Amino acid sequence: MKKIAVLTSGGDAPGMNAAIRAVVRAGVANGLDVFGVKGGYEGLINGLFVPLGTRDVGGIMQRGGTILGSARCPEFKTEAGQLKALRALNGAGIEGLVVIGGNGSQTGNYALHKLGFPVVGVASTIDNDLVGSDTTIGVDTALNIALEAIDRLKTTASSHQRAFLIEVMGRKCGYLALMAGIAGGAEYVVLPEVETDPEKIAEVLASAYERGKSHAIVIVAEGAKYNATALANYFEEHRERLGFDLRMTIIGHVQRGGTPSAVDRILGSRLGAEAVNQMVKGNYGVLVGEIKGDVVTTPLKEVVDHPKQLDPAYLELARILD
Ligand code: ADP
Ligand code: F6P
Repeated sequence: MKKIAVLTSGGDAPGMNAAIRAVVRAGVANGLDVFGVKGGYEGLINGLFVPLGTRDVGGIMQRGGTILGSARCPEFKTEAGQLKALRALNGAGIEGLVVIGGNGSQTGNYALHKLGFPVVGVASTIDNDLVGSDTTIGVDTALNIALEAIDRLKTTASSHQRAFLIEVMGRKCGYLALMAGIAGGAEYVVLPEVETDPEKIAEVLASAYERGKSHAIVIVAEGAKYNATALANYFEEHRERLGFDLRMTIIGHVQRGGTPSAVDRILGSRLGAEAVNQMVKGNYGVLVGEIKGDVVTTPLKEVVDHPKQLDPAYLELARILD
């Protein structure tokens, strides 16, 4: 193998640049020519390859986002789109592809693998919804951004004796919400994985005030059956009976932006470099992730076939620490 390419896909994540840098530098160290693909699978379909040398990836580690750009590309979900991408790769003489991204991106990567192209995945998404990695690149930064917002909201909540609904990202996965709830000292966490009863939340909030708390914080995962907007509407409809002075904040995309944490830079560097090692060894069709502190590979088939479960120990911790 002489030529490989690397792309970033799906929602961007802080630390993706560290992973790109590691792929390029580990690739060069292994005697490979490395190309970047501009704009995820969209760019792959259109053959947007740029040569990347060691110096091209200097000074990017501390930058959020991805220097290659990312995209949601519906065309790549079709076989016709995947075949176009394959033609572009073959046309440019590229013999291996590293895909840095989340669940959807690795499903696309697996599609290329099934078409016989040598691929390796790198686990990167703020959602932490990938089997094959305890945490994915971007999660630590996103969690710290959410925590900063929660800490700030708590001070104003306290001054006014208010309850706050704070919504965090995560798509269908409640990991970010659960961890933000534990680390942010929330009274309640609303998750997609657990049935929500708004009346139960009202009870928990009332009990928090009865126990002398000056504020009550509910962290809501955006993918929960009742997101923050739905819950706020519920509390508004039953305002007289439930009697809460409630405010809602949706943290949103700010969680994906800005400087990557040390944890994400290191994780990006380790996983990116290992993706190249696996490529060189000929271990294709795998996701590179980190489990129990070790960098490991998991077949993409297993990754895309199994939804990631929340650790019940953390669910219990959130319950008892409210
Ligand atoms: P993420 O990788 O962050 O989960 P998406 O779910 O949006 O983000 O996926 C990113 C891209 O991966 C999609 O825009 C699409 O091009 C590709 N993709 C997603 N799902 C599939 C699929 N089932 N088959 C092929 N490609 C897919
Ligand atoms: O997958 C990362 C993520 O930030 C999710 O948490 C969120 O649901 C989604 O992307 C938002 O997508 P977009 O940036 O396309 O609005």
